[in-house]
Amino acid sequence: MYLLYYYMFHIFICVYIYIYNFFRCETTLSQFLKTIKSDSSSVRMEDTINILIIHAQSPNELIKSIAITWIREFVQIFGPNVLPHASGIFTAILPCLEYNVDSKKNIKECAVSVNNSIMSLISSSEHKSQNIEKIDLRSVMEVLSQYLTHNSVHTKIAVLKWIHHLFTHFPSEMSPHASNLGANLLGILSDNSDEVVLQCLSVLAEILNSTYNKDSNDFNKVHYRKFLLSLINLFGEEKKFLDNRASLIIRQLCVLLNAEYIYRTFSEIIDEEVIKFASTMVRLLNMILLTSPELFELRNALRDITNEHSASLFKCLYRSWAHCPVSTLCLCLLTQSYQHVSQLVVLFADVEITLELLNELDKLVQLIESPIFASLRLTLVSKANNSADAQHLAHALFGILMLLPQTEAFNLLKNRLQCVPNYWGQTRINEENSLQHKSNIDFDVLLEHFKKVQKFQRTLRIQQRRNIILPEDN
Ligand SMILES: *[C@@H]1O[C@H](CO)[C@@H](O)[C@H](O)[C@H]1NC(C)=O
Ligand SMILES: *[C@@H]1O[C@H](CO)[C@@H](O)[C@H](O)[C@H]1NC(C)=O
Ligand SMILES: *[C@@H]1O[C@H](CO)[C@@H](O)[C@H](O)[C@H]1NC(C)=O
Repeated sequence: MYLLYYYMFHIFICVYIYIYNFFRCETTLSQFLKTIKSDSSSVRMEDTINILIIHAQSPNELIKSIAITWIREFVQIFGPNVLPHASGIFTAILPCLEYNVDSKKNIKECAVSVNNSIMSLISSSEHKSQNIEKIDLRSVMEVLSQYLTHNSVHTKIAVLKWIHHLFTHFPSEMSPHASNLGANLLGILSDNSDEVVLQCLSVLAEILNSTYNKDSNDFNKVHYRKFLLSLINLFGEEKKFLDNRASLIIRQLCVLLNAEYIYRTFSEIIDEEVIKFASTMVRLLNMILLTSPELFELRNALRDITNEHSASLFKCLYRSWAHCPVSTLCLCLLTQSYQHVSQLVVLFADVEITLELLNELDKLVQLIESPIFASLRLTLVSKANNSADAQHLAHALFGILMLLPQTEAFNLLKNRLQCVPNYWGQTRINEENSLQHKSNIDFDVLLEHFKKVQKFQRTLRIQQRRNIILPEDN
């Protein structure tokens, strides 16, 4: 009886398609559906829907179109009872979301409608927990993960939205799937489509936030760190990915999650792990910190290191920033540690002046001229408290000027400094009034750290050069 029914349905579909082809007789379908609607118990939904799911994957567009139309009707008629077949339904509808041509419009519309019906079934607040239990999440996640690498942007976005939806609404049910999924999602970050990358980041942020936030702080920290370390490793693997995607990814993560936490964690990783491209990574983080609107609050927090919290953030960032000398100068200018900047500039005598470093100094001068450093420029003429800060800053900027070859940047900075009162012959600076002095930061410790890291970088460079000249034999 069971098997007979199964075959009869297959035959029915085939006959139906045959009739449809010859007579374009749409009423047959609606009549059959009407029968089902009036007496849904007469249909063995489980068997029928499986047949429909198979036909919906047919390469024949007509068969596909009919099968998907029927799936839509079935979802309407049987409601939550179709949920145990969710993974099959996803297998059928998700690839159809890419259809944009007119001939396939019907298929796409049906697929969108099924997608939305399923969503409202598991989001309706009254039966939410009841309905999610009907879904076999493991097989649904398998299907979704598989379609993550589908070549259609529409399909990928729909998949990502589904994963996001499931994590937002069912964090505890979804948490066992988090780690498997995380690895797959990292791969998607190199997608060519911005939209896919941004959607993927929302999912990653949601997973970090919803799955791990409830647990203790330490646990949370471990997961953030693991994720950001994988991200750094990805950046290190491919230069193109680093150049084209890293900035977008970091900025978006700072929007979605806590920017300070992201920056602190990045800095801890760079300070504690051996990362070959540490200075490149720091340069990138520094540029984003100084220029992007997403980091506005963090930037402002760092301007006042007399505040305990900001001071601790500054010290944390400094440890990794030391890998990149010019970025360290930027950070110290931002935090108004002007006296320290003058000390650092002197150390540049020992830092190898490469073309790259000159380029960075060039950018630093541009930054000083930009609105972000307007308050710094005003400090130069400040009269408050014996202008200790003004004098230290002027010394620091003259130092930077002396590092520059006589290029455009040199003239820019020189012109700026010509507007500054001449502090050289003035009475002794009253150190105690400088912001740097008012903070509780031990700058001597920082200076030692800077020297140590630079020494390490120097050995690294020498090693790398040797490797280029004498390639490792193996
Ligand atoms: C499919 O469903 C998800 C909800 O989980 C929704 O966010 C998304 O916009 C839907 N996609 C389409 C193309 O309708
Ligand atoms: C992360 O979780 C916190 C509290 O648990 C919440 O306030 C915040 O909006 C969440 N952020 C995201 C991106 O979900
Ligand atoms: C100047 O210094 C005094 C005492 O150190 C302090 O109370 C005051 O706030 C400072 N003024 C400015 C503008 O920094």
